[in-house]
Amino acid sequence: MSDLEHLKELIGERKEMAEFLDEALSAVEQSDSLESLERVRVEMLGKKGKVSAIFRGIPSLPPSERPVLGEIANTLRRVLSDEIARKKSVLLAEEEREKLSEAALDVTLPGRRKRLGHKHLLSSVIDEIISIFLTLGYRVEEGPEIELDYYNFEALNQPAYHPARSLQDSFYVKRRDPEKNYPDDVLLRTHTSPVQIRVMESDSPPLYVVSPGKAYRRDEVDATHSAVFHQVEGFAVDRDINMGHLKGTLEVFIKKLFGEKREARFRPHFFPFTEPSAEMDISCFACSGKGCALCKGSGWLEIMGCGMIDPNVFGYVSYDPERFSGFAFGMGVERIAQLKYGIDDMRVFFENDTRFLEQF
Ligand code: PHE
Repeated sequence: MSDLEHLKELIGERKEMAEFLDEALSAVEQSDSLESLERVRVEMLGKKGKVSAIFRGIPSLPPSERPVLGEIANTLRRVLSDEIARKKSVLLAEEEREKLSEAALDVTLPGRRKRLGHKHLLSSVIDEIISIFLTLGYRVEEGPEIELDYYNFEALNQPAYHPARSLQDSFYVKRRDPEKNYPDDVLLRTHTSPVQIRVMESDSPPLYVVSPGKAYRRDEVDATHSAVFHQVEGFAVDRDINMGHLKGTLEVFIKKLFGEKREARFRPHFFPFTEPSAEMDISCFACSGKGCALCKGSGWLEIMGCGMIDPNVFGYVSYDPERFSGFAFGMGVERIAQLKYGIDDMRVFFENDTRFLEQF
């Protein structure tokens, strides 16, 4: 016989007690949260609760009634606390189920793609230029952006008094030690050519080298100028290198970079560190040589400076100009990217507007 059946037997005809039992059981059953169940527990079984009141009433009953009422109160307490515990575990299980369903994971939803960055257009163009020269057997070397006057000018055949120095307005860097009275001999390199000297100083021919990097000039920023820009330098030093090697190499290069249809031409020019010097032009993409706005009517686009390395430069690195000769060239990466992709304003390379950058 269960406790409840036993209790009902004990209660028998005691109407008030039977009603209390029914009420108490239905109050437990109807609790719909752990909080309301706890309120019912306190109301029934707490120190000031109804069951305690029954216990307290026993002494004032006729002696014959007392043992039965005592057993009723004890059984009642046991039945109610069992019922409350059972109900509590039901409510806990419900709460758990609700929590789980809120946190449900819908495995049929598509995943969220992580946005990856990608190469800046200038980096891609540099990579493309470099990879063409790698296929021609060149190696890559880099030099410092903060450079000594010696490498940037002097060893490139531009001694202090040389008028060509004023061609390039430079950013000089102060060396800060008042004790030492350093000369103004450090600057942000104005071109990548000092890498020629650094490599020739430490290695001997044959040399086939390309060198990408930043260069700095005191230029007003506009559609075609920037105080910082990128160059790729290249040079070769070996026995019997002549102008034909220079032209052949650069013609192969521009056809690989811009397509087989591009023609190249070489115009005489001047650089202190090459003799003879030239500028290379390529036939205009827009008009194929007829003359248009892009090429300003000439049919040609200027693309880089180049020339045969001046024997004076070899003097600075102790190469014997009777044994070795070489050529060098230097190109502006922004200009090449602008021409290749039809970009008319150089500032977009540095503004980092992702609407521009994402197109490449
Ligand atoms: N350094 C030159 C410039 O910045 C380019 C150049 C490089 C010319 C190598 C000749 C040879 O204008």
